[in-house]
Amino acid sequence: MSITFSEKTKTFKLDTPTSTYIFGVFEGNYLVHYYYGAPIPDTDVEELRIRPGFASFAPDSPTARVFNFSPDVTPLEYSTFGAGDFRLSAFAVKNSEGNKVTDLRYVSHKIYAGKKALPGLPSLYVNSDDEADTLEVLTEDKVTGVKATLIYTVFKTHGAITRSVKVENASDKPFFIDTVHSLCVDLPGYDYDMLGLYGRWVKERSLDRYPLHRGIQSIKSKRGSSSHNHNPFTALVKKGATEDYGECYGFNLVYSSNFSIDVEVEAFATSRLVMGINPDGFSWELAPGEEFYSPEAVMVFTDKGIGEMSRIFHKLYSNNLVRGKWKKAKRPLLINNWEGTGMDFDHDKLVSFAKHAKDMGLEMLVMDDGWFGHRDDDRSSLGDWYVAEYKLKHGLSGLIKAVNDLGLEFGIWFEPEMISPDSDVYRAHPDWCLHTEGRDKSIARTQYVMDFSRKDVRDYVYGMMHKILSENNIAYVKWDFNRNLTEVSCAQLPPEKQGEIFHRFVLGTYEVMDRLIKDFPHILIENCSGGGGRFDPGMLYFSPQIWTSDNTDPIERLTIQFGTSLCYPALTMGAHVSASRRASYETKKNVALWGSFGYELDPDKLSPETIEEIKEQVKEYHRYYDVIHYGELYRLITPFENDFRVAWQMVAEDKSEALVTVVNMRQSYDPFFILRLKGLDPEKLYEVEDTGNTYSGAYLMNAGLNLTHKPQGDGESYLIHIVEKK
Ligand code: DGJ
Repeated sequence: MSITFSEKTKTFKLDTPTSTYIFGVFEGNYLVHYYYGAPIPDTDVEELRIRPGFASFAPDSPTARVFNFSPDVTPLEYSTFGAGDFRLSAFAVKNSEGNKVTDLRYVSHKIYAGKKALPGLPSLYVNSDDEADTLEVLTEDKVTGVKATLIYTVFKTHGAITRSVKVENASDKPFFIDTVHSLCVDLPGYDYDMLGLYGRWVKERSLDRYPLHRGIQSIKSKRGSSSHNHNPFTALVKKGATEDYGECYGFNLVYSSNFSIDVEVEAFATSRLVMGINPDGFSWELAPGEEFYSPEAVMVFTDKGIGEMSRIFHKLYSNNLVRGKWKKAKRPLLINNWEGTGMDFDHDKLVSFAKHAKDMGLEMLVMDDGWFGHRDDDRSSLGDWYVAEYKLKHGLSGLIKAVNDLGLEFGIWFEPEMISPDSDVYRAHPDWCLHTEGRDKSIARTQYVMDFSRKDVRDYVYGMMHKILSENNIAYVKWDFNRNLTEVSCAQLPPEKQGEIFHRFVLGTYEVMDRLIKDFPHILIENCSGGGGRFDPGMLYFSPQIWTSDNTDPIERLTIQFGTSLCYPALTMGAHVSASRRASYETKKNVALWGSFGYELDPDKLSPETIEEIKEQVKEYHRYYDVIHYGELYRLITPFENDFRVAWQMVAEDKSEALVTVVNMRQSYDPFFILRLKGLDPEKLYEVEDTGNTYSGAYLMNAGLNLTHKPQGDGESYLIHIVEKK
C-alpha cells in the first residue's frame, strides 16, 4: 500500500516514487501536517510540528492542552476559519446562527485500493485499482454538524497525489459553504519561488517566477472560466531550482471556472498554500442531508527540477486524465478553415479545401464558425444551431458526403454556451441568457452567455447539437467559448442561492460535455476558448486536445507552448501551421509539430512549391508522431531565459529515439553553439540522422552537439532526429 496509518504515532504516510507526505491526528483530534518532500521512511515525526511556542495573542487550543500548541503556529492539514488559526483558511461555513466559526476535527478514516470519481466533476481516474490507493479522512465540526471528508489518492507510479473534499450537512439546519479549498499545504520556511502562467488572449501562459514574500500572494480567476489571464497552476520551487535541479512542488486544479491559489508567508516565516474554488462571489447552501464535492487538486513533488515536475504531470494526464478512444488513437491530421476564410465560405469553397487537403495528405476538414443561422459575422445566430443553407447549398449532409467521398473525415464548430441577441432562440427566450433583473446586460463579441446553470437551457442546446451530430457523419467537434461571464444571477433561484451560479454554470457545462462524449464516444472534441482561455485539466477530462492559442505566429507561439508545457503534455496542445505573417513554412511546421498538429489556412492561396513542401511536412508528422506524442519532454533552452534561441527535445520512453527542435527567434550574436541534450541513455550509441555521425548518449549529454554550422538567421529553425544505433 502506498498509504499507511501508524496506530502508534497516529500518522498517515502517503508515498509516491518521488515524495512522502505525512500528516497525523494530534491531541484534541487536530489534523496536523508534518511533512511533504522527498521520500523518507520515518513515521515518528511529531517534533516537526513544533514551532515557536511563545506566540502572544495566538490563542492556545481550548482542547489540546499541550505546551507549545496553538492552532495559529501549528502546521495544520486543513485550516478553518475563526477557531484560533489566523492564517489563510482552507474552509469556512456560515452556520444557521449567522457566524462563520468552523472547527474541523478528526473522526475516522478509511484506506482502499483504487479511486472514486467525483460526482458531476472531472477528476483523474485509475485504469485498474492497483494503480492508486485512496485515503478518506472524515472530520467534523461538532457544534454545527458540518462534516468534511478529506480525500487523498496516491498514484503509485507517478509522483502525484490528488486531493478533494466532500462536505456533508449532518445537522437539521441548512448552512452555507463560504470557502472550500481543495487543498491546503503548510511548508516550513519560505525560500521558494512561486511560478505562475499568466497571459491574455493571443498570449496565454507565459511563465512568471517571483520569490515568495511575507504576506499573501495570489493567482486567481473570477471570469467564469479558468481564463487566458491566469492558469489554475502554480509551483513552489526552491530558490535556484532549474529545469534539472532542485525541489519543486507543482499544483494544478481540475476545474474550469473561478479558481483561487493563495500562498501566505506568515509571521514565523512558514508558507501555507490553499487552492480551490475562488471564494470571491461563491456561497453554497447545503441543506440537511446534502453533499458537496470540491474540485480535485493535483500535487506533484520532485527534487529533480522543474523539467521532471512537468514530465510527471504529462505522464499522469496522458494516462489518468485524458480518456476514451482518443487517449491512444492517433489524432487525425486536420485542416481548419477559420484563418483561411473566416465566416466567408460556402459549399464549393469547403469542397475545394478538402480536395487540396486530400492531395496534401491531410485527413480531416474542420468547418469552423459561420455554418449556422444567418451567421456572416460575429453579430448573430449563436444558439440557432441549424444549417445556413444559403451557404451550404447541399445542406450539411451534402457537404459532409462530398468531403467523405474525397476520403476525408469531417469536423464541425459549436459555441454551445453562447447566445446572440440577434438569434431566433434569443427572440423566443430572452430570459435564457445570464442577466440580472434591472441591469443592462454586458455584451462581448456581440454575444451573451446562455445560462447553463439551468437544465431547460442545457437540454435545449444539447438537443440541437445532438440532432446535428446524430444525423451526420461527424468525427470531430470544436467546442468554443468566447467571452467572460457577467451579470451572473438566475431568476429561477432564490436570493440565498445566487452565490452558487458560477459553480452551477460550470457543472452544467460539464454535464453537457459528458452527455456528448457518452452519446458520441467516437467524436474527438477539441476544446477552445478564443484559443487557450480554458486550457485546464477540467476541460482535458472531456476534450483530449485544446486549441492552445489564436496566435499562430510560430515565434510568438514559443512562449505560449513552453508555458503550456509546464504541466500539459504535447498531445493535448492543438498547434497549427497557418499563413501567419512571419517565418517560413519550415519554422511554422517545426513549432506546430510540438502539439496536436494541423493546418489552418486557405490551400487555394498556396503556391505549388508550398503545396509540395506541405506534402513533405505530412511525412515528417507521421514519422515523428510517436516520439512527440508519447515521448518525454526536455526543455533545453526556454524563451523565458533566452531572447535569441530556443530548443526542446522529445525522448522516447525507452530512450531509443529523440527529436530535437531548435528555433532562432532572432539572429544570435553568439553563433558558436553547442547544444547539450538530455534524457538519453549514456550507455547507448545514437546516430544523428542528418549527418550520419554516431555518438554515445554520454557524449551528447555532456559534450553536446556542435550546431554552429546550422541555420542561425532570424526565424530559422531545424529538427535533429537521433536514433539508437544497435
Ligand atoms: C475563437 C477561436 O479560438 C477560433 O479558432 C475560431 O474558432 C473563432 N473563435 C471562431 O469564432
